[in-house]
Amino acid sequence: MHKKTLSYAFRRSLFNYYVAKRVKSTLDSSSPLSLSLPSFVGEMRGKHFLNTDDFSQDEVARILDLSFQLKRSFDDRVPTPYLPGRTLFMLFYNRSLRTRNSFEAGIYQLGGHAHFLSPSDVYTPALPEDSVPYQTEAISDVSRVLSRYGDAIAIRVYGDASRWIIGRGHKVIQEFARYASIPVLNMEDDLYHPFQALADMMAIKNVFPNPQGKRLVVSYAYSGGLKPLAVPQSSVLIGTQFGMDVVLAHPPGFELEEAVMEAAKKKADRYGGRIRVTNDMKTAFEGADIVYPKAWSCKKFFPPYSPSVDKAGASAYQDGFKDWICTPELMELTNKARYMHCGPADRGMEVVDEVIDGPQSLYFEEAENRLHVQKAVMCMVMG
Ligand code: CP
Repeated sequence: MHKKTLSYAFRRSLFNYYVAKRVKSTLDSSSPLSLSLPSFVGEMRGKHFLNTDDFSQDEVARILDLSFQLKRSFDDRVPTPYLPGRTLFMLFYNRSLRTRNSFEAGIYQLGGHAHFLSPSDVYTPALPEDSVPYQTEAISDVSRVLSRYGDAIAIRVYGDASRWIIGRGHKVIQEFARYASIPVLNMEDDLYHPFQALADMMAIKNVFPNPQGKRLVVSYAYSGGLKPLAVPQSSVLIGTQFGMDVVLAHPPGFELEEAVMEAAKKKADRYGGRIRVTNDMKTAFEGADIVYPKAWSCKKFFPPYSPSVDKAGASAYQDGFKDWICTPELMELTNKARYMHCGPADRGMEVVDEVIDGPQSLYFEEAENRLHVQKAVMCMVMG
């Protein structure tokens, strides 16, 4: 009996050995799974990515180094199947060109797959106070359900989707993060656009490998639309995080959130940079190394700074600042500055064609870099 059992165990282990050997040889010869994964895959495993301010300068610099590495592989057409079989859920409450396509292309290039989720085609994920029977579903539930199917949840929510209550879009993303057991990625809310900030810093570092002390002008520029605070806020945060001399220029009423300015001041002190505010676009441009003129909305027309949402009032107010436009004459005042904009730029309002299409423009580099930085973060948190 004992002999028989041993014999069975022996035969069983022999069988397992040959199966393992066969699988290994198949992988070695043909499967991307056979590639040894770089050490950065999974380096920040499970972490949410909601705001660059949640990460140290070293961590952000590390992400950017990997982004440059992934860009080189992309340019050389070297495969990077570092996330085989991984699934990214993308929930867009707002439209997108760059964000959607760079995330979707990025996860595919890493060997994974993206699901595009339109909130109106699922039961719209909602905070408890916004729930409508059989039309919405609690974010706490959606987050836990998706956590059982895949490997990260990416969300974009601002403006009408967050009812123009400033901070509510970020609250939605925080609610997802609170309940998800997989990483949550902020694809832009009403306060922050962290992947844009990474892409922008990658473009800056490509021009100025050490950006410390370089003057970055984040300026209001007029648009006929109502845009969120996310990009200027993330820009001043990442600029000060890298010790830049940040100048924020805007007309009266376009102040950023006090908490963001406080955080930027702390970063400036810590990393040897500066942050100053002016109400004059022309003065701001003088001696600038980089200019980032773009629109955002005047807070005083929206809760919690106003008792109700007044989009018409905000539009009428900003119509008084149509002269805040980036022109060659303004660029002449700079230190041969590079022009930046996250896109989509409102041509003829925020900037004239001659600047955005000119030799000093980094507009398309910024757009491209979205792909590389997102791939770097996905590798680090989803691996
Ligand atoms: N900059 C940016 O987020 O672009 P999209 O709105 O096209 O995604």
